[in-house]
Amino acid sequence: MSVATFIPGTEINLLDRLPQTKRDPKARAAAKTVADRALAKQFGRDFFDGERRHGYGGYRYDGRWLPVVQRLVEHYQLGPDARILDVGAAKGFLLHDFLQVLPGAIVRGLDVSAYAKANAHGGTGPFIDLGSAEKLPYPDASFDLVISINSIHNLPLPLCAQALAEMERVSRAHKFLTVDAWRTEDEHLRLLDWILTAETFMHVDDWRKLFAEVGFTGDYWWFIP
Ligand SMILES: C[S@@+](CC[C@H](N)C(=O)[O-])C[C@H]1O[C@@H](n2cnc3c(N)ncnc32)[C@H](O)[C@@H]1O
Repeated sequence: MSVATFIPGTEINLLDRLPQTKRDPKARAAAKTVADRALAKQFGRDFFDGERRHGYGGYRYDGRWLPVVQRLVEHYQLGPDARILDVGAAKGFLLHDFLQVLPGAIVRGLDVSAYAKANAHGGTGPFIDLGSAEKLPYPDASFDLVISINSIHNLPLPLCAQALAEMERVSRAHKFLTVDAWRTEDEHLRLLDWILTAETFMHVDDWRKLFAEVGFTGDYWWFIP
C-alpha cells in the first residue's frame, strides 16, 4: 500500500467494558529478575498458571471478556457467520465468548503457546493454531475481524512490524489491536517497571508511525499499566 492511499485506523478503547485491574508496577519492578522474565517469555505453565512474578499468576476463565466480545460484535456489526481471528489467543477465552455471542461464527486463534492450546477453555483447543504472529498461516482476506490483545508487542520490532502487515493481509474488513505504549514520561516509567515479556513498546506516536509504515489500517488501543 502506498503512503498516498493509507487511511489510518481509529484510536478507540474497545476494552472499556473490562473490569479495571489494580496494578502495582513498582512492586513488580522490585521483585522481577532476569530469570523471571526468561521463564515468563517461554509462555508455558509458569506464565499462565504459575506465580504472579512469572505472568498471570493463574489465567482462569471468569467471563470478563464476554462484554468486550459483545462490544466488538456490535461495533464492527459482525454477521452471524462472521470469520474471526484472535492473534495471541492464549487459552481461547475470547474464541469461546465469540461463539457464545455468534454461535455460527468461524473462529480461529493463533498462539506460540502449546501449554495454552493444551489447556484451552471450553473446548477451544482445536480452534487454536500454534505459530507466531509474524507469519499467519491463513490466506489473504480470509477474516472479517482480526484482533490481537496485548500480544504482538512480544516480538522484536522487525517481526512486530511483520505481524502488523500480516494482520492487514488476512483481514478483509476489520482489525483491532492493543499494544504496550505510553503517552507521558510517567506512563513510560510505569511500563518499564511493569513489563515482563514485551520486546516492542513505544510512545503512541511511534506506534502510529509504524502502523503507517507497514500499512496497518486497523483500530487500536494502548496497554498502559
Ligand atoms: C499477555 S498474553 C495476552 C493473551 C490474550 N490475548 C489476552 O488478552 O488475555 C500474550 C499472549 O501472546 C502470546 N504470544 C507471545 N508471543 C507470540 C507470538 N510471537 N505470536 C503469537 N502469540 C504470541 C502468548 O503466548 C500469550 O498467550
